[in-house]
Order: sequence, then structure tokens, then C-alpha cells
Amino acid sequence: MTDTEALKRRAAARALEEVTDGMILGLGTGSTVAHFLQLLGEALEQGSITRVIGVPSSIRTGREAGELGIPLSTLAEHPILDLTVDGADEVTPDLDLIKGMGGALLREKIVAQASRRFVIIGDEGKAVTRMGTVSPLPVEVVDWGWSGHVAYLEGLGAEVAVRKSDDGSPLKSDNGNLILHCRFPDGIDAPGLLDQELHARAGVVETGLFLGLADEAILAGAADVRVLRRDP
Ligand code: 5RP
Repeated sequence: MTDTEALKRRAAARALEEVTDGMILGLGTGSTVAHFLQLLGEALEQGSITRVIGVPSSIRTGREAGELGIPLSTLAEHPILDLTVDGADEVTPDLDLIKGMGGALLREKIVAQASRRFVIIGDEGKAVTRMGTVSPLPVEVVDWGWSGHVAYLEGLGAEVAVRKSDDGSPLKSDNGNLILHCRFPDGIDAPGLLDQELHARAGVVETGLFLGLADEAILAGAADVRVLRRDP
């Protein structure tokens, strides 16, 4: 395992300590969440955690969790989740996030908003002081007329790339939409205003700006694991 993977696993192990018997768990998406799923699967197999039900935020996570024997359900059956554990592409000291580089931002945000507690796990490389400086901002748009959004987003200062599949064709999200990666060369000045502006545009389905949603971020570094918490 690489150093970064070991850090992701350490953050995932710390998050597992917050899981108690019988919880309805939102399951995020990505390589850090994959560690959490493995550890959760092991805990269920060993009986150190019992009776949890997972609600996956993507087809990928549903497949991974299913293979690990984690019992699964849907938001339709469990519209309120006790705890969701997810990764992030950027985490600010105020717990604002950029998410969605795994292509699952819409379902991830729906799951986050259905959660009593929303906990982020990652390695220290995800910590930023200014949003948009490490990761592009993913924006999910409907397929129809999508290319019209490019000039609009460029007008907001972004360099835009459509997310591609392995075969080079535009990638469809689990919801059948496209994802535009928007890199802001100097970072994002006013994330809240940008989010409002993007949501006002017809055809934009959701943005990767997760503002005011996370309750806690567990960031593992070589020396220690930092736990950032939102002020109550
Ligand atoms: C998927 C996400 C991921 O949580 C985010 O991209 C972090 O992924 P990873 O843990 O692989 O670094 O938002 O849409």
C-alpha cells in the first residue's frame, strides 16, 4: 500500500469508530471510501459492529459494498441517515468542500443532505485554505445543449473540460448527465455566490460545492490524524 493509501485507511479507521450498532449509514464514493467499506465489511464479519444498513451514493459504491457483504438499502426506504462517511477533493478549515471528482456529486449531495451527521475522510493533501486551488470544480449538467455551458463557465473564469470515459467519449454520470470540470486558475473567490449563480442556470443539475454540509473532517497526515469539527 502506498503512503497515501495508508493515510486514507487511517482516516477511514478513525471514522469507523463513529459507527454504532443499528445505524443507517450513507456510503460515499471514491478511493478513500473504499477503505472505509473494507473496514466496515470486516467489522460486520467479525461482529464488532452489527445490524448496520448502508445507503450507497453511487452504483460503484453499491457494487463495492455488496461484494463486501454490507447490507444495502435505498433513500426511498430510509430517507433519514444516521451518519454518512464520504471523501472529498478539497476541505477548507471551515469544512466547506469540493467534491465530485469521482463523478458522483449529485447523489453524494442528496445523501449528505439526508444525513444527521456528515463526516469527511481524507489524507492531508485534501486540506486547502482557498477553494479551487487544488481541484477543479465538477459541475453536473444535462446532456441536452451541454456545450452551451462551456462559454458561460469560461465567462466566470473557468477553464472547462468535459469528463471523459476510458474510451475517450464524454462520461455519463449515474444519472445520465455530463460532468464539466472547471478549473479556476486563481481559485474561487466567493464559493457561495458561484454556487448560487450556477444553480440559477438552466441545465446545471448540481455543483461540487458542498458548503455548510460537513459536520466533521478526519484528515490523516504522516504525523497524526486531525479532526476538524463544525462549531455547534
Ligand atoms: C466522488 C467524490 C470523492 O469522494 C472525492 O473525489 C474523493 O475521492 P478519493 O477518495 O478517491 O480521493 O466526491 O464523486
